[in-house]
Amino acid sequence: MAFTPLQLPDYREQSPEVAERFRTIRERPVVLKVTDLCKSFGVNGSTHVAFENFSLDIHRREFICIIGPSGCGKSTLIRIIAGLDEQTSGHMLVDGKEVGGPSPERGMVFQGYTLFPWLTVKRNVMFGLQMGGTSALDAEGKALQWLKVVGLARFAEAYPDQLSGGMKQRVAIARALAPNPRVLLMDEPFGALDALTRCKMQSYLLQIWKEINVTVLFITHDLDEACYLADRIIVMSANPGRVAEVIENPVPRPRRVAQMLSPEFLALKHRLDELIHGPADAEEEILPVVKLTEAGDEVE
Ligand SMILES: Nc1ncnc2c1ncn2[C@@H]1O[C@H](COP(=O)(O)OP(=O)(O)O)[C@@H](O)[C@H]1O
Ligand SMILES: [Mg+2]
Repeated sequence: MAFTPLQLPDYREQSPEVAERFRTIRERPVVLKVTDLCKSFGVNGSTHVAFENFSLDIHRREFICIIGPSGCGKSTLIRIIAGLDEQTSGHMLVDGKEVGGPSPERGMVFQGYTLFPWLTVKRNVMFGLQMGGTSALDAEGKALQWLKVVGLARFAEAYPDQLSGGMKQRVAIARALAPNPRVLLMDEPFGALDALTRCKMQSYLLQIWKEINVTVLFITHDLDEACYLADRIIVMSANPGRVAEVIENPVPRPRRVAQMLSPEFLALKHRLDELIHGPADAEEEILPVVKLTEAGDEVE
């Protein structure tokens, strides 16, 4: 039987509720303003541009996903925004003030597990607070409160190696949120988790985000993840990294896993796929298969 592709709506079509939501988001103050950010590296005497002319205004409580192929500069970009690396040119403002260098107002969650293995879960969350000058007593109170928010109060005295991958990332989220950041920066935080845990963590993150006043900048290369989480999606292309398109997500909130099969979700995912992997009707690259004899020699 011939394959008939689904008839999908235009990914730019928005229901009145979704259009209204974007209207109110645009009216909110800009928390993070990034202007013309560029980063290049010197490699063997020549200059390698990781990304260029990256500009973005993120409004209060907006959830932004950045998606793009491997190597397009996503991690470099978010590390610069976190203050862990320095840009070659361009500016960043948080609440209208120029920033540079790391600060608790920009909390970061990394893809790898970055908890201190020699500290208990509670002490891991307390660490950043104490570094920022909070007294041990206050830091402990706050850490326990945040562990409750991420559902891990019972594990306060456990060590990271006693936790599953998903639990470790929940501690990492608590650690990033404890100092009340203005922006939560996340670089593929669920990338190392199995598919089921990843899906649970996505729903979990949406729940936390709904409860607290935080703006999120989330990096992923997973199309479903971006469609499920984001308000706006920034699609990047590679060599050098550039913004290819900024898309307002037409999928209504509150989000449910079942919406992954809705026409607007599929239309959006199809568009992301097209931007990242090229048009669907492009010829698929056929990789040659080398046949071997039983002895392992190449068949002529
Ligand atoms: N410290 C570095 N020195 C030289 N090149 C780097 C360095 N860090 C990253 N790059 C290069 O910058 C580009 C973007 O890398 P990265 O930000 O890790 O991409 P992504 O996270 O999108 O996969 C890549 O080509 C990478 O090789
Ligand atoms: Mg990366």
